[in-house]
Parts: sequence; structure tokens; C-alpha cells
Amino acid sequence: MLCKFVGLVLLVAGFCSAALAQTQAVDAEGHQWWQHAVFYEIYPRSFMDSNNDGIGDLNGIASKLDYLKNLGVDAIWITPCYPSPQVDFGYDVSDYENIDPMYGTLADFDRLQQEAQKRGIRIIMDFVMNHSSDQHAWFIDSRSSRTSAKRDWYMWHDGKGSAPPNNWVSTFGGPAWTWDAKTGQYFYHYFYAQQPDLNWRNPAVHDAMFDVTRWWYKRGVAGFRLDAVDTLFEDPGLHDNPVLPGKDKLGDPVEENVYNTKLPEVHVVLRDLRKVADENNAVLIGETWTKDVSELKQYYGDHGDELQMPMDFMFTKVDRLSAGEFRRQIAAVDSAGGWPVFVLSNHDIVRSSVRYGDGKNNRAIEKLMASLYLTLRGTPIMYYGEEIGMENNDPKRKEDVKDPIGRVGWPEEKGRDGERTPMQWDDSPNAGFTRGTPWLPVPPSYKTVNVASELKDPASVLQVYRRLLALRHENRALLDGDYVAVNESDTNVLSYLRRFKNEAVLVVLNMSSQPQRVSFDLGPQGFAAKSASTLFTTMGGGSKVSLSHLSLQPFSVYVGAVSK
Ligand code: NOJ
Ligand code: CA
Repeated sequence: MLCKFVGLVLLVAGFCSAALAQTQAVDAEGHQWWQHAVFYEIYPRSFMDSNNDGIGDLNGIASKLDYLKNLGVDAIWITPCYPSPQVDFGYDVSDYENIDPMYGTLADFDRLQQEAQKRGIRIIMDFVMNHSSDQHAWFIDSRSSRTSAKRDWYMWHDGKGSAPPNNWVSTFGGPAWTWDAKTGQYFYHYFYAQQPDLNWRNPAVHDAMFDVTRWWYKRGVAGFRLDAVDTLFEDPGLHDNPVLPGKDKLGDPVEENVYNTKLPEVHVVLRDLRKVADENNAVLIGETWTKDVSELKQYYGDHGDELQMPMDFMFTKVDRLSAGEFRRQIAAVDSAGGWPVFVLSNHDIVRSSVRYGDGKNNRAIEKLMASLYLTLRGTPIMYYGEEIGMENNDPKRKEDVKDPIGRVGWPEEKGRDGERTPMQWDDSPNAGFTRGTPWLPVPPSYKTVNVASELKDPASVLQVYRRLLALRHENRALLDGDYVAVNESDTNVLSYLRRFKNEAVLVVLNMSSQPQRVSFDLGPQGFAAKSASTLFTTMGGGSKVSLSHLSLQPFSVYVGAVSK
């Protein structure tokens, strides 16, 4: 893999026998595999279709492992591919220990796992812990009668007269309570009614879900992305949430989710999950919508004993290119005490190219953003297609929308189809994703924005990703160095050092549409050299630049090594 492991630490779990001990490789800096790995999110419906039914599948992913390896990816997070009615495109799981036939079989999964392992690529599964599908055998049993053995596996409550138990609203629209006429009670669902919340206060639920993680660890997975962890617990008193003025995009009252998200009990479960993860040298990535650093710190755990990689999403909330705003967010995340995680977009968030692009310089801006999150201290999680500069392809008509929230909220909320379109592999029909009819349309841009064309073009976005990923895998300062902000008052150019012992890498990012001239005095940071040796740049120029006057083209990037 990327680093030479120089230390081997034997972690012997308490009183367990040596036979149960797991080995965890760390490097000289005490860093574990996930701290040097580059993660890549795959939305399996949209990555590669091997059987031409228009929907991506596991064999499709397997056929692209060499591409991922050559790109510089070390771990893939596959969003849910379990059996599911697909109401929320897999986030409604009807069997946690199987593969949906539309994606393949368990044998296909095992083959994918083995093929990935041969290439040094680890697999991260998506653990949908807060809720199952209403078609899961557990819920079918639970709703069958008030005396069912599984009744208490979900959140059943009496209403208040003819009204639901309280005012909680589903984040996907309408009340968070659905009436079940057969058993005369309401069940709770933070998301769609087809996604009933599991009752995590029931130890049987806790144990069954923990067994699911062990089952996948035995199949060779290297960790989990934990879906919607904020929503695991609810106030047992079922107090009403405070209501704020106005309506949300789905036409519901705006609530502060005081009583149904981020309850302290979440952290008990995370600590337990971490123990099982540690026994398996695995990583836990959290879908943690932290509002600030104090919340982020909680997810790392007081003793670093919860999530290794909470996704704080702070970058995704920066809605325009702003050196000052990114500088603030980086400093905040860097100061949280854990290992930072950087995400530009995902299957729920408008693609970064759309958020930051100005319509004229999008390619340059995509390279700029790549240079930002691939050179910071921390682990980047890429989203498929980001590496070629894929943009959103939002539906134009309500009748074309696949994501249910886009139909409820149209036209203000168009849903998430736009950021989930098929991967653009080449310029053949349907971008080479399928020979059938793709489940979502491919935008016309695929003729030029595609892997095959960009592999041939030395100046493409894809080549920038490949070069930067290669650099961050081999450069000690980029792997292990501190983050040190420099020229902090510059509102146009974001600059920082990655400093590791006697080495440092200077990263300079012009976030403005104007040429800029910058100069650096890195003496106070311990680097007296007057010039930098170029490691990567999106501009031309020689192999050395002067630090006293560095000229930058609009949206350009300079990365260079500086010495003492
Ligand atoms: C977060 C997932 O990323 C999203 O796609 C899904 O709809 C919800 N959780 C519910 O599982
Ligand atoms: Ca298929």
C-alpha cells in the first residue's frame, strides 16, 4: 500500500486470548491504514452496469477495479446494495445479510472483495442502522400484532386522541408517525414511512445489529459508513420539538430536532461499535451532521474511542469559493483533535463542480478543489465522477423525478437524482455505463467529460487527480505533516504548509477569478529557503519558483517542496 509500515502493534483485547488478538499496522507516526488511504464513494446503481439492465451492479464495480487502482484509490465505500424495495434506493434495507439480486449475489460480493483485496483496495459497507425497510422480516413481524416478539424492535406508540403522539416531522415530508390500523398504534420514522426506526433501546436490536457488523467483517469488509447516526435515539418522553417560523422545502413546519436527534445515548452505541471495529482493524465513518467543532469532537469520543472518521460536512456547507471561509473551516476541523475527513459532495449533495463552478472556468475550478482536499492533513472521501468533473443533471420535469423527495418538494426541492447520474466512462451511447436504458439519464456533457477522453488528455481534470493522488501517496509531508496556515489575511489565495520534520510542502490555491501575486516568508515556520521546488502546478513554469513573488493565474494551483 501507500506507506511502508514500520511498526506493528499487537492489540490484545483485554482478557481475550492471544488467538483473538488482532494486529494493527501503524507507521512510525502511529498512523493507521485509513489515515493514509484515499476513499472513494460508489453509488452502485450508477457506477457500471454489467448485465445491461440499466442499473449498475457488483460485477460492474469489479470490472472497474483496475481503473480505481490506477487512479490511486485505496478503499471504496459502496452505498447500500442489500435487498431492498428501493423506496429510498437501498437505504430501506429488507435483509442486512444479503445482496439485492439487482446488484448480484453474495458470491459476486465475495469475488469483488477478493479482487479488490488483490489490488490492495478495501471495501467499506454502508450500515443503515437507524431504520430498516418496512418489508424487513423484523418489521413485518413487529406490525403483525401488539404481542409480536418483535413488537418492541420498533417505535410503537399510542396517539393523542386521533392525533399522532407528538409534533415530530419526517425529514422526508409529513408527520414522522404513521398510523397502523390493524394494531391501533403509530410507528415512528425519521425518514419515509417505509423506513421505520429501529428501537435502539431494546438490547435485542442492539445485539442483532452488532451481529450484522460481525457477519460482514467475517466476509472481509474493512469498515462501515454509518448512516444517519444522529437519529438513533429519541426522547422517551416524546416531548414536542420547538417549532420555528416558516415552512421547509417540503411544505412542513420547520422544527428544531431537539428531542429526536443527537441524543447522548448515540455515543454509547458508537463506543461499542468501535470496540468491535478495533477487533477487526476496521474503520468507522460517520454520517455526522455536525454544526460546529464542539459537536465534531464528541463524535471522535472523549478518549478517541468513537468514530475514527466522522464526516463533518463542513466543506459541503461552504457554498462559494472563498479563501477565508475554507481557511476557517480547515482550521476548525484541524483543531478538533481527531483525524480530519474531507468531503466535497456525495449522493445527497449537489456536486461540487456545480457549487463552485462559475460556468466559464469550471475545469480550472474542479482542479483547484481537487488540489484542496487532496493536499490537506486528513483523509479525503471522493465521490464517483468527481475525478472527471461530472456535474449535476437535475430533472427538468416532475414526472421524470425518481427520488421521492423530489416529487414531494417539486419544484423547490428537485431531489437527489441530479448528483446520482451514471458514471461517464467514454463517449459511446450512455457514456459506456450500460447498453440498456440507464435508470437515470446521462447528460450531453458525457461526450467530452468521460474517463476515456480524459485519460488521453494530459491537461484533464482526471490527470490532475491521478497526479495529486500519486503525490500524496509518496510524499511524507503530505502523508503525515501538520497543517500550518500561512498568509492568513489573503482573501483571494488560500495557502498552507504541510510540515513534517525537516520537510514541508507549500500549497497555494488562487480561489479568485483574477491573477494574483503572492510572496511568502516561511522563516517563522522554520523554512528559510527563498524558493520552492515544484511538485505540481496547473500553470506552466520551471522546476523552481521564487517565494518572494509567485504569480498565479485565475483559479490556479501551485504545490512545491520547501527546505530549511
Ligand atoms: C442518509 C443517506 O445518505 C441518504 O441517501 C438516505 O436517504 C438517508 N440517510 C436515509 O437512510
Ligand atoms: Ca445491472
